[in-house]
Amino acid sequence: MTTYARIIGVGSYLPERILTNAELEKMVDTSDDWITSRTGIRQRHIAAPAQLTSDLATQASRHALDYAGIDASSLDLIILATTTPDRIFPSTACLVQERLGAPRCPAFDLQAVCTGFVYALSIADKFIRTGSAKRALVIGAETFSHLVDWTDRGTCVLFGDGAGAAILEASSEPGIYSTHLYAEGQYNASLTAQGYVSEGCLQGGSGFTYMNGGEVFKLAVTNMSAAAEEALIANNFNVNDLDWLVPHQANTRILSAVAKKLQIAEEKVVQTVAHHGNTSAASVPLALDTAVRDGRIQAGHLLMLSAMGGGFTWGSAVLRF
Ligand code: ACO
Repeated sequence: MTTYARIIGVGSYLPERILTNAELEKMVDTSDDWITSRTGIRQRHIAAPAQLTSDLATQASRHALDYAGIDASSLDLIILATTTPDRIFPSTACLVQERLGAPRCPAFDLQAVCTGFVYALSIADKFIRTGSAKRALVIGAETFSHLVDWTDRGTCVLFGDGAGAAILEASSEPGIYSTHLYAEGQYNASLTAQGYVSEGCLQGGSGFTYMNGGEVFKLAVTNMSAAAEEALIANNFNVNDLDWLVPHQANTRILSAVAKKLQIAEEKVVQTVAHHGNTSAASVPLALDTAVRDGRIQAGHLLMLSAMGGGFTWGSAVLRF
């Protein structure tokens, strides 16, 4: 009998501070009209100076545990996708594990930038399918504002902070049908925050986010729709079988183009980018939790998750909620 990984709980957390387009108008040479027409973003949440990725991740995880009605001590795997870990080491997953009270279970971080949650979900799925874990906590959490140059209008309007989490449990019912992951390292320079730490200092780059916006745009549309199509074909599903597309929230023009390519109605695309901005690895689980809690996504619905990020990395997951 096949063992599937099923989502039994979701949760999210957004920092209190909201940064509006009107405030950005005072910081750089931009306008609300430019930002909304090019990206659809109206506001984003920004972590307080002392708030780190583990703080956001812990809150989101607690909400997911409450939703599932389980205790953290019953988890046997924690994977945390992030581009903005608290420390160089140990992993942010270990910091979250300690705070949640989930002793001894394996816990590790995963770096695939905006595709991080889909990558982490895929790995947790494989742990569960092979019997190596029964209950996994998968988190996408970012304080991406730490990597933003607030004087660069080309990037600072795009990003926000947040965290989302899902609990997966072994089940005889699907569950995750399949996941499809890709990477193409030749594009590493197109979306990057360069630098490494040596002798206690950042070397080899500024540490701020650089982006070739046009290239990211084109490849995000192509790759996110191709990965979703592949997942449909692999499971003999038709696009009309989908109840919801839950894509990485980069900008509304990318989401509209993906919807058009897949021939899925825009009403079936969960969109949170207007309120959250691009939260990198947190964006897919934040969108998922938002649509579950407002009643759009219901038990039994067929969902397609699709994401693309720095690397480039991209991937999809098709699942029954
Ligand atoms: N406000 C006002 N003007 C701006 C701003 C801003 N915030 N940013 C750039 N501009 C200017 C540029 O300087 C340029 O001016 P110029 O013509 O005088 O040189 C002009 O606007 C047009 O710039 P373009 O880069 O051509 O604008 P474009 O229409 O391509 O939109 C954007 C830029 C929104 C970044 C677009 O390329 C895009 O959406 N790319 C995808 C990027 C993205 O979503 N990245 C997220 C991370 S990747 C991921 O998550 C998958």
